[in-house]
Amino acid sequence: MSDPNSGHCHFPERGNLARVGHILLVLSGKGGVGKSTVSTELALALRHAGKKVGILDVDLCGPSIPQMLKVQGKGVHQCDSGWVPVFVDQDKSISLMSIGFLLEKPDDAVVWRGPKKNALIKQFISDVTWGDLDFLIVDTPPGTSDEHISTVESLRPYKPLGAVLVTTPQECTNLFSKGGGEELARHAGVPFLGCVPLDPQLTQSLEEGRDFIQEFPKSSAFPALAHIAQQILDRTF
Ligand SMILES: Nc1ncnc2c1ncn2[C@@H]1O[C@H](COP(=O)(O)OP(=O)(O)OP(=O)(O)O)[C@@H](O)[C@H]1O
Ligand SMILES: [Mg+2]
Repeated sequence: MSDPNSGHCHFPERGNLARVGHILLVLSGKGGVGKSTVSTELALALRHAGKKVGILDVDLCGPSIPQMLKVQGKGVHQCDSGWVPVFVDQDKSISLMSIGFLLEKPDDAVVWRGPKKNALIKQFISDVTWGDLDFLIVDTPPGTSDEHISTVESLRPYKPLGAVLVTTPQECTNLFSKGGGEELARHAGVPFLGCVPLDPQLTQSLEEGRDFIQEFPKSSAFPALAHIAQQILDRTF
């Protein structure tokens, strides 16, 4: 986490990201570990804390956030300064831009070569008209591919607050073993934000595009997600 004092400065040279307070990346080494879940729930938790949040879904081959927020199939509009993101709620506190909104067929991007993907990601990062945001959460595809390099390079000038690395306990040993993420964080010398338990209510709420943070405060994953969001908030002041 860098520059805890960056606050809500206005940087005209940042273009469409001029009024974005903090940028957070969500990354993982492997697929299916819960990046899009963490991105979605962090957005909902930060909204719950009164923040305006944008989500940029750069997972070109498997965009899943539109479904998790129940806005799949929505069209995006273009204006003079770029693409207008999709608002998830009436009071426009969460906005989303996903490649899923731009592809005619969901499988289109699967066959694209690196340079086409990289160009799209660069455009994606500079051309979405976010307006005023407290946080922009960037959900990435699994692994460390060309898309990650383009994403990180394109975001570097905007000085992201940090990255949330999502991991699961080592496969094949014990799915429910704990401590792997904490150990990894210690090893890498980065803050350990928390451990989200497997929670069927969370799965269900994501499948149905519901607001888990609002509707399931008593479920097992709730305190973990709220704690992670709070630690991120704590690092911005
Ligand atoms: N803590 C949890 N409890 C229960 N289900 C979960 C939890 N975290 C994630 N899931 C479920 O696991 C599946 C994979 O999660 P998700 O799509 O967030 O992973 P991902 O890392 O974004 O995957 P990909 O690498 O394909 O983008 C989803 O069906 C989601 O509902
Ligand atoms: Mg995902």
